[in-house]
Amino acid sequence: MKTRILEILEKKGDYISGEEISKELGVSRAAVWKHMKKLRELGYEIESKTNEGYKLIRTPDRPIDFELERMLNTEIIGKKILLFEEVDSTNNKAKQIALKEKDGTVVISEVQTYGRGRRGREWHSPKGGIYVSFILKPNIPPERAPQLTLVSSLALIETLNSATYNLNAKIKWPNDVLISGKKISGILTELSSDMEKINYIVVGVGINLNTNIKILPENATSLKLETKREVSVSLFLKSFLEHYDRVYQEYTNGNIKQIIERWKNNSDTLGKRVKIIGINEIYEGLAKDIDENGALILKTKEKEIKVYSGDVSLR
Ligand code: BTN
Repeated sequence: MKTRILEILEKKGDYISGEEISKELGVSRAAVWKHMKKLRELGYEIESKTNEGYKLIRTPDRPIDFELERMLNTEIIGKKILLFEEVDSTNNKAKQIALKEKDGTVVISEVQTYGRGRRGREWHSPKGGIYVSFILKPNIPPERAPQLTLVSSLALIETLNSATYNLNAKIKWPNDVLISGKKISGILTELSSDMEKINYIVVGVGINLNTNIKILPENATSLKLETKREVSVSLFLKSFLEHYDRVYQEYTNGNIKQIIERWKNNSDTLGKRVKIIGINEIYEGLAKDIDENGALILKTKEKEIKVYSGDVSLR
């Protein structure tokens, strides 16, 4: 119930009357009042004004609810969650434990001292952001592993664009999530497999949530900046993990086509002229489509080619 009250307060972002809350939840106003009291004890700053109601001012310093696992309404994702205040990298931590953990186990940290980005880059991971790694064990051949990056960026986009945050986030191929052209999240997918069989995939997602504007890189944004309010980390994680669970289940049920369709609808890259800096080459052309493994189909001057990874800039 406390979670639902927080959701209502967050969504409103302003004063909402006790009566409205009690109606929405089907409980008495006295019950709402009791839960507000409990939330304040847990460190939530909630202002109340006669005739106006309640307004969420600040969420507590300890950002992740230790009850997150129990708050989740999921089938696979987050049945087990390992929470840390600080780790070197959640992807490293996840890889250390992946063999013995179940499909869907999640590692979360508030800070990373050695966050890793794509192509050996550093991923600056200060307090205010959130760093999440998913241990996945789908029954697929190794060449399909990049599809999990599509699953992950779609789950994040569907979280950010849901009614709670109501944003217009877009995916920049291969796996950056942007709002108004600025990066809010990056995804790093790592695979352990032999020739035929996957041992595990670790998908790491770093998200700028309440990251202080002063320490954000120039071309980056945060959820706080976009929604103009401090975001509850617990509620964000609940929503993200639940969206992830849904998309991951669609995936394991064989519905990759639908996932790719939705991914395309949210793409910031397709239909545009782009320059792609790959590991050894640079390509230029029209970003036409993605194939079912997430490779970009690029129409260059000479021919159509498939590009598997790279950094994209618009031409
Ligand atoms: C990129 O855009 O280059 C990808 C960034 C991926 C960062 C995330 S944060 C959680 C996980 N742990 C890491 O060390 N990296 C990923």
